[in-house]
This record gives sequence, C-alpha cells and structure tokens, in this order.
Amino acid sequence: MVTGGAGFIGSHISERLLDQGHEVLVVDNFYSSSRRNLVHLIDHPNFELMRHDVTFPLYVEVDEIYHLACPASPIYYQRDPVQTTKTSVHGSINMLGLAKRTGAKILLSSTSEVYGDPQVHPQTEDYWGNVNPIGIRSCYDEGKRCAETLFFDYRRQHDLGIKVARIFNTYGPRMQPNDGRVVSNFIVQALAGDPITIYGDGSQTRSFCFVDDMVDGLMGLMATDHDVTGPINIGNPVEFTMLELAELVLELTGSASQIEHRPLPQDDPTRRRPDITRARDTLGWEPRAQLRDGLERTIEYFTALPAS
Ligand SMILES: NC(=O)c1ccc[n+]([C@@H]2O[C@H](COP(=O)([O-])OP(=O)(O)OC[C@H]3O[C@@H](n4cnc5c(N)ncnc54)[C@H](O)[C@@H]3O)[C@@H](O)[C@H]2O)c1
Repeated sequence: MVTGGAGFIGSHISERLLDQGHEVLVVDNFYSSSRRNLVHLIDHPNFELMRHDVTFPLYVEVDEIYHLACPASPIYYQRDPVQTTKTSVHGSINMLGLAKRTGAKILLSSTSEVYGDPQVHPQTEDYWGNVNPIGIRSCYDEGKRCAETLFFDYRRQHDLGIKVARIFNTYGPRMQPNDGRVVSNFIVQALAGDPITIYGDGSQTRSFCFVDDMVDGLMGLMATDHDVTGPINIGNPVEFTMLELAELVLELTGSASQIEHRPLPQDDPTRRRPDITRARDTLGWEPRAQLRDGLERTIEYFTALPAS
C-alpha cells in the first residue's frame, strides 16, 4: 500500500513496485495531486486506486505500507495548515493502527524539515533540529516531527516494524508544475520565458536528489531487517546555490529568461545538506544521478506536459 501514491514520489514508488511484480494499493485523497500521475498504471491488473483521506481510519489487508500521504510543498501545506497537521498526526496514528492490526511493515516519509533552520552542517540523524514551533512552516515541520514520535512510540510499545526516512529535496518528472518548489518553478518559468524568481541573493544552497535515486533509497530501507528503524537521511549531499541551479536550468532549456530577485520568505533555511553516512553504511545506498542528467529528464517531462 502506498498512501499519497498519486503524488510525485508515491507514483514512482507504485510504478517500481508493480514492475517488481507486487500488488499495489494506492490510497490518496488528491489533496495535492491528480490522477494524471497514475493514468499509465490504472489498467495494470495488480493495481488498485482508493480515494481516501488518511485522517480517517482505514481497514484493508496489506503487508507493507509506504506512508507518504502529506502535502510536501509550502503552497499546498500552508493552504490548510490544520489539515496538514491532521494528515501527519491523525494520518500516522491511523496507518500505524493498520500496521499493528495487519502486522505490516510501515515506512514514514519524514523530511529534512525536521532539522528546521539547522545549526549543524551537514545534518546527521542525531541532530535534534532547530524548528520554530509557531511559524507558518510549523504545521508541516512539527507535524512530521510528531509523526516520527508516533512511529517510535509504536515501535517501543508494540514492536512494530517501522522505518523512518528523512527525505531531502527531491525532484523529477511528475512534480506539480505550479506548487512553488524550486526546481519545478525554475523549469516552468524558463520554458515559458518568464523571469526566474530567486528569493534573496541566491547564495542559499540546497541539495537535490533525483526521484529514481530516492525510490532506490526508500525501497532499500523497506527491505531491511526488523532491527533497522532509522531515522535515516535519504538525499543528495552535493550542494548547489539557487543561482547555480537557475543558470543550469537556463542553459538546458535554452531560455532567454532573466533572473529576478525577491525577498526571502519567513523561516526559509539558508543551508541544508544531508550527511548520508548512515544510508551508505546501512543500505549501501547513495545517489547516482548527476543534477544535469536529472534536470534534462525533468525538463523533458515539463516540455511534454499539456497546458492546464
Ligand atoms: N518531494 C520532496 O522533496 C520531499 C522532501 C521531504 C519529504 N517529502 C515527503 O514525501 C512524501 C511525498 O511527497 P511528494 O513530493 O510526492 O508530495 P506530493 O504532494 O506530490 O504527494 C503527496 C500525496 O499525498 C496525498 N495526500 C495529502 N494529504 C492526504 C490525506 N489526508 N489523505 C490521503 N492522501 C493525502 C496528496 O494528494 C498527494 O498525492 C510526503 O510525505 C512529503 O512530506 C518529500
């Protein structure tokens, strides 16, 4: 079962699971996605799609749960912040309850946002983070932190097979075109010939993981023994400034767009980079895609996307 399976990362996981011969149940309420991401899977004999909001209990028979349901981009998670917290907290309680009843392994797609605006670089999993509990990003950051707490409490109380992945910025085909994430923003703006908006002076850095690498990491984590719980950082440790990213997108799209600077939003972290030693040692995983190659594949996707 993949909750949030109609979303960007979830649709890639669902596809990979089907390719490996598994039966896949996608549970999604389409809060931040559409069926477009799944149209190519709908007729697959091992695929099933259920419209359901994970903040309500769910009774199905499953043996592995990828729990991804949660809006991931600020535009979506800030649209209805109370629902965002509910999705992380009630949604996790419901899915953990399901895992307990069925004996399924359950993986949480947590986030690098649990580190907030970090004071430790790069971030290791034992860093507790620097998160504003009352800011406009808190519904997402604190929601995920509480989801992690719930996962570990279910482990301690009920010995559940939990896996907690802390996902860092991921990009690739099937990101939503207008959800405000930096890679999709830059590509959409460049393809339209619109100005590329950089918040601040563009010196803030991010690390970008191509979605195929992310799927390898998450599935590798799911396949580990009962004693491996995480949390485990999954992301790309190579840092780029926003200015470097914008310039690469301009080069690869051949766009004549200009770069435009805007004020930095509240609580925007200036730097974030995963320490992936634990993923390397435990999963034998590290990202393989180069940013240039991943961007080319993402640009291809956005170029082919029908205007909506
Ligand atoms: N993409 C990233 O860079 C990134 C980084 C860190 C963490 N994550 C985490 O990975 C997961 C997937 O992210 P994504 O980038 O694919 O985002 P996405 O928004 O494309 O996918 C999330 C999916 O969850 C669904 N959803 C939201 N609320 C729901 C609810 N109450 N009930 C059922 N379905 C619901 C949405 O409709 C959507 O299909 C999220 O949990 C996100 O927090 C992603």
